[in-house]
Amino acid sequence: MRRDHSTTPRTPRILGALLLVAAAGVFTLGSAPAAEAAAPTPLNRVIPAPASVQSGGAPYRITWATGVRVDDSAEVRRIGTYLAGILRPSTGYRLPVATGGGARGIQLHLAQGDFGAEGYRLHSGPAGVTITASAPAGLFHGVQTLRQLLPAAVEKKTVQPGPWLIAGGTIEDRPRYSYRGAMLDVSRHFFTVAQVKRYIDQLALYKINELHLHLSDDQGWRIAIDSWPRLATYGGSTEVGGGKGGYFTKAQYREIVDYAASRYLEVVPEIDMPGHTNAALASYAELNCDGVAPPLYTGTQVGFSSLCVPKQVTYDFVDDVIRELAAITPGRYLHIGGDEAHSTSHADYVKFMDRVQPIVAEYGKTVIGWHQITGAHPAKGALAQYWGVDGTSAAEKAQVAQAAQNGTGLILSPADRLYLDMKYTSSTKLGTKWAGYVEVQRSYDWNPGAYLPGAPASSVRGVEAPLWSETLKTSADIEYMAFPRLPGAAELAWSPASTHDWNAYKVRLAAQAPRWDALGIGYYRSPQVPWPKS
Ligand code: ACM
Repeated sequence: MRRDHSTTPRTPRILGALLLVAAAGVFTLGSAPAAEAAAPTPLNRVIPAPASVQSGGAPYRITWATGVRVDDSAEVRRIGTYLAGILRPSTGYRLPVATGGGARGIQLHLAQGDFGAEGYRLHSGPAGVTITASAPAGLFHGVQTLRQLLPAAVEKKTVQPGPWLIAGGTIEDRPRYSYRGAMLDVSRHFFTVAQVKRYIDQLALYKINELHLHLSDDQGWRIAIDSWPRLATYGGSTEVGGGKGGYFTKAQYREIVDYAASRYLEVVPEIDMPGHTNAALASYAELNCDGVAPPLYTGTQVGFSSLCVPKQVTYDFVDDVIRELAAITPGRYLHIGGDEAHSTSHADYVKFMDRVQPIVAEYGKTVIGWHQITGAHPAKGALAQYWGVDGTSAAEKAQVAQAAQNGTGLILSPADRLYLDMKYTSSTKLGTKWAGYVEVQRSYDWNPGAYLPGAPASSVRGVEAPLWSETLKTSADIEYMAFPRLPGAAELAWSPASTHDWNAYKVRLAAQAPRWDALGIGYYRSPQVPWPKS
């Protein structure tokens, strides 16, 4: 293993100081490529853009002598160990994680302060980098910032040459919205626990904190329910195109929940109802109004299925499913879908939602529904997820805005901005185009706080980037559609509106590409972005 021992302690003091000054950009050695390569990433070259950045002073250099100092707290130690786990393979340094203060090295520290639940301060100077927060989530988000301030090669799994410089200065950061989501459709095509974990790691890098799993649809039921076992074993036995599908056992679902929690993401499970239910209807004949189970479905049409609203067994079923799912979901929310219920009459839709929302509350969860739920009676505290497009009718937008004025919180997922499965252009092979083509600038360049006419800015709880999987089968497919749009969604959700600027953003976005290369993430090389030459 190659180790870089050419660090300050072994370098004559004066030369060491000169190197640090040069690296800080106070002066450079002409235009020598080596000096340029050594310049640390500017503190504001991060995605999502931090709330405030003060650059200045000499950088910190991670060396063989660097340790990770943590508070005497199991959770802070765990975050320190996670950070060391990222840094060790590429730096080749030992990076011991130890409790105790002292300003040298990398320090993770909890303190009272105006950080909120997820904010942090990152201070970097020649003696060390200190991340301070009032809650562990803030430390974790600060660690993601620290990662992005290091050269992209830090993400590699083999020892790289360095140097490992972090620019001097202070970042003070906290999110604009508390709900910063990404949705993965595991129903149209099933994705394994390992694939979901991989996506979670990618989301965490951009400070996404909600993982919405679309667990049921016409083409597949993906979560084991003990009281209705055929949902998973039969309803989960196929997918779009007729593949073998699959489902998560409860233990596997818990594994995802725990992994997400270790990255400070909350899992939001969705059981889509009363439409998008063919997999359930195929599994149990009694759920159908005519008592006849339809065949499993592997196409991509929507709007043809409905639970039987007048039958009591429907509510016994919903109660069992929500009870079992709530019991394995520590998160606050349960998403009940409610979109595209074209085979349910409006009166039945309202009746259904009036009966089902209290069941969610009974099991201690808060309802999220797609925005069609605002056409019923959204429960107190419910959130509506808006997925309209520019061309959505004024009446539909007004209905959502009215609900927002009446207290329903909004999650914004406009399909012609944030649906990651929309094709970028007519030449994109994967994805769909019903909401139009969504290039990177279109995806980024809008303001969630002023998006839906008539909806108060305070009703917007956040944004979410859904990824529907009719055309997606592999992690490479997921990543090609998510990158480079996902970081833009994350920035809309995290960064203050005052930092929003496409021209500055596209430069920061381009700078992420070597990191994706190092992480093995394939992405769409949009001509709108000034990518480095590859
Ligand atoms: C949706 O795209 N049907 C929510």
